Amino acid sequence: RGAGRRAAPAPARAAPARRAGRMTRVAVLKGGRSLERQVSLKSGARVQDALERLGHDVVGIDVGHDLVARLRDAVPDVAFVALHGRDGEDGTVQELLEALGVRYTGSGVSACIRCADKVLAKHHMRDAQIPTPDFFAFTETAFKQLGAADALPAIEQRLRFPIVVKPAGQGSALGIKFAATPADVPGALVAAFSYGDKVLLERHVRGRDLAVSVLAGEALPVVEAIPREEDFYDFEARYEIGRTDFVCPAQVADEVAERAQELALAVWEVLGCAGFARVDLMLEESTGELTVLEVNAIPGLTETSLLPQAADAAGIAFDELIERIVALAPAVA
Ligand SMILES: Nc1ncnc2c1ncn2[C@@H]1O[C@H](COP(=O)(O)OP(=O)(O)O)[C@@H](O)[C@H]1O
Ligand SMILES: [Mg+2]
Repeated sequence: RGAGRRAAPAPARAAPARRAGRMTRVAVLKGGRSLERQVSLKSGARVQDALERLGHDVVGIDVGHDLVARLRDAVPDVAFVALHGRDGEDGTVQELLEALGVRYTGSGVSACIRCADKVLAKHHMRDAQIPTPDFFAFTETAFKQLGAADALPAIEQRLRFPIVVKPAGQGSALGIKFAATPADVPGALVAAFSYGDKVLLERHVRGRDLAVSVLAGEALPVVEAIPREEDFYDFEARYEIGRTDFVCPAQVADEVAERAQELALAVWEVLGCAGFARVDLMLEESTGELTVLEVNAIPGLTETSLLPQAADAAGIAFDELIERIVALAPAVA
């Protein structure tokens, strides 16, 4: 556990007197400037409530330009990183916490970097023979300076239509488009590039959406996300409240659930995750095969989020889940 974490230097500050007691001072990092700010504020508020009920000394920090100053003021024993998306989930905030010698929850810098970049994560999976849908990835530079557009017909032939186009570094289905024909591809690419400079074209897997959350290297029960409406190609709409039903444990054969959990743990290991994470998979309708789409280093912790639901199905109530995530945070040197 936590193999991906590097030892941080000893913090250049004295332990405050209030640590004499058993109360742990926890700084909850939430909000931030990412597109998933609102989800993070909800995750953070819920985590704060749980920590208070658990008797901790809690300070909430809306992450912005004064983060370092706020952390220096708060002098937390541990930081609970309840951030999603850019900066909070991609290793940036984790690097700062390492530099400051602050203990923090979840995966370390390198695992966050690997998970936040879908292309990098998929390369790691492919190298480790973990099934992930076939893909080709390009930067904007490849299109602007190397004429990558000329390679699109070859790519389209290799992946076959329909194709999914998505930015390498987003969450909550933002910028994910479905291309049914070659005519849909340029528009989908433009949309994806508006979120970042790396985009992937991926084979579309027709089937069921599954997620396996992992806590301390153990897989929790499988959750299935079932869209209510038929327009299942509108990925962004699926994330809107009430557009999707979540079923936990998923109604799949035991061997499918076991295989999904096995794959999730394999990805967790390969990417070097720690603490908790959520692995998103597809169960292909025509072949019954499972493929891994991506890993979320800091999955949502809101009322409707999948990890808390999966934990609940495993008999782990929300407060206990939060307490365990805090306890799992590796000590800093
Ligand atoms: N290759 C694909 N085939 C079929 N559906 C996909 C594919 N990629 C993404 N999706 C759909 O879009 C959703 C979000 O995609 P995902 O890769 O998990 O990105 P994120 O959750 O970070 O936005 C998936 O849960 C799935 O419903
Ligand atoms: Mg996902």
